[in-house]
Amino acid sequence: MRIVAIAGSLREGSLNRQLAGLAGESLARLDPSIDFEVLDWSDVPPLSEDIEHPAPEAVTRVRAEVAAADGVWFFTPEYNHFFPGVEKNLVDWLSRPQEGGAPQVLAGKPIAISGITPGMDGTAIAQDHLVTLLSFLDCHVMNKPRLTIPSGFSLVKDGILDLGDGAKRLDAQARAFVAFIGR
Ligand code: FNR
Repeated sequence: MRIVAIAGSLREGSLNRQLAGLAGESLARLDPSIDFEVLDWSDVPPLSEDIEHPAPEAVTRVRAEVAAADGVWFFTPEYNHFFPGVEKNLVDWLSRPQEGGAPQVLAGKPIAISGITPGMDGTAIAQDHLVTLLSFLDCHVMNKPRLTIPSGFSLVKDGILDLGDGAKRLDAQARAFVAFIGR
């Protein structure tokens, strides 16, 4: 089984990218044969229909990585009670038909959603918006469980995210997502 993580932040030291890394460790404990990768999409350009064809090399690469995944796990920050614009830009690129007319790569894809924020809602509101977007794209979203982690900066020591007891919730979501993909 191959799972690709999308962390919706370009920030160095991003809490959400660190959470994605911890999710990879959860999955490896669950089943070492799971192939897990945090997608590098930092070179995907702002979408303009003027540069859609031929697709930029970075776009072709991320589309291929998502297409090859059995499931995609989003780790979303919350900006102004929404997910970040750069994350929407990536999803917009993924939402377009592939070169040669093959369907867009997110259709039917099993999706899990998690997020961590310094604020109190743990990205719950941003996640709801992301569900709306991904449902429009015919994704197969796992709504239970979703993982929301509030007060994220209080869990960082020397720049490293440590979930403490919260790790059990991440393990539970990893278990649920593997079962959801297998259904
Ligand atoms: C934020 N941040 C934020 N936090 C929050 O809990 N609720 C919010 O609505 C917002 N809004 C917001 C808007 C903008 C424009 C920025 C730049 C930031 C703070 C944000 O969640 C925080 O920086 C996280 O650490 C971002 O996630 P990463 O980059 O650590 O993964």
